[in-house]
Amino acid sequence: MLQGRKILLGVTGSIAAYKSAFLVRALIKKGAEVRVVMTAAAEQFLPPVTLATLSRHPVLRDLTEPTAATWNNHIHLAHWADLFVVAPATANTLAKMACGLCDNLLTAIYLSVRCPVVLAPAMDTDMWHHPATQANVHTLRQRGHHLMPVESGELASGLVGEGRLPEPDQIVAYIEELLQKKTGVPRLEGLHALVTAGPTHEPIDPVRYIGNHSTGKMGIALTEALLEEGAQVTLILGPSAVAAPASERLHVVRVQTAKEMYQQALRFFPDAQVVVMAAAVADFTPHQPSAQKIKKGAQKELTLTLQPTADILSELGRQKKNGQVLVGFALETENELANARQKLEEKNLDGIVLNSLNEPGAGFGHDTNRITILDREGHAHAFPLKSKREAADDIVTFILSLLGRQTAEHTS
Ligand code: CTP
Repeated sequence: MLQGRKILLGVTGSIAAYKSAFLVRALIKKGAEVRVVMTAAAEQFLPPVTLATLSRHPVLRDLTEPTAATWNNHIHLAHWADLFVVAPATANTLAKMACGLCDNLLTAIYLSVRCPVVLAPAMDTDMWHHPATQANVHTLRQRGHHLMPVESGELASGLVGEGRLPEPDQIVAYIEELLQKKTGVPRLEGLHALVTAGPTHEPIDPVRYIGNHSTGKMGIALTEALLEEGAQVTLILGPSAVAAPASERLHVVRVQTAKEMYQQALRFFPDAQVVVMAAAVADFTPHQPSAQKIKKGAQKELTLTLQPTADILSELGRQKKNGQVLVGFALETENELANARQKLEEKNLDGIVLNSLNEPGAGFGHDTNRITILDREGHAHAFPLKSKREAADDIVTFILSLLGRQTAEHTS
């Protein structure tokens, strides 16, 4: 997989920089071409000659080389690479990347790369958990970069917690998996997918609504994953502040209420071969929203009468034809597997993605999710905590297996 692949490795100033020597050696052994760029701080932890020897190329650090009177062309390097990996990536370099600062060769290269970017953070646990670092990580993820999960354990400071750089063989495995996905022929080309995402807002009066904590991140990550596989995607998006990806193959339909989502889902359903209902649809809506703002007046209490909304997924399950794959989500707080399986059966789904509200880092608002996918054969595929984008890739892989199976059933 790595034979002949051009990997540009950025090494920044962390005690974990020593691991990059093992990383370079492993990449070279697998046949990759490796060029290394280090920051000045990284050189304090690992002499460049080590990485130069292992990579068989000079290690680059500065935009200019005063002794040789040459200029290291960062654009040329950036365009040369099939993959830009920064391991270890310090809090400082992540912050610079998030802001677009380019005061060294590594960050200047970053601003010019066109290839996928893998970032393997390493830092002390307090630095990792600091809201500033987490905000930068969030920005970089949103930008579509691949952030490897940090390891937990004993840190150089003696503290124990999250922040360790993954081991070199884990980084190599991550890179191989990523390149495999990127180089494969798009597997959903020509196929139309329908995705719903976000919450719905059910009006009480012109000022207030009943909503939920969904942000739409999971459905948008799924949209990205489906687009990456070449699908044509219609995204029905509830009131969400998260930006949908820019693509000519994406049609975004904005809705507010469960009723609007129902109407739009039914409109696009007949032409969709794959449908994923990631939206958190309100189950109840005010019976008669007030045309005017409800005044507080002297009322001691206010009673709202709610009526059930139509269950979109159940209706799609009823209308489903041969060749259509229908996947739902289940957000549960108790009896998770049993409840999810019941929804799978009752709504006539081909699969259901269970995420639990009891799980730290999973569910509403987070950038990460821990999912379990249940299929009709009674299997439950449990995945570890991952970024929502990576969880979306797992769901797409599951959908691909369903499509493969349907084709096999059809032709047999
Ligand atoms: N769903 C839907 N229409 C609704 C409610 C839910 O299409 N009116 C879909 C969701 O998009 C999700 C699945 O049904 O894919 C399960 O939603 P969830 O809220 O977990 O379950 P409900 O069916 O609403 O049941 P309950 O609230 O009792 O758990």
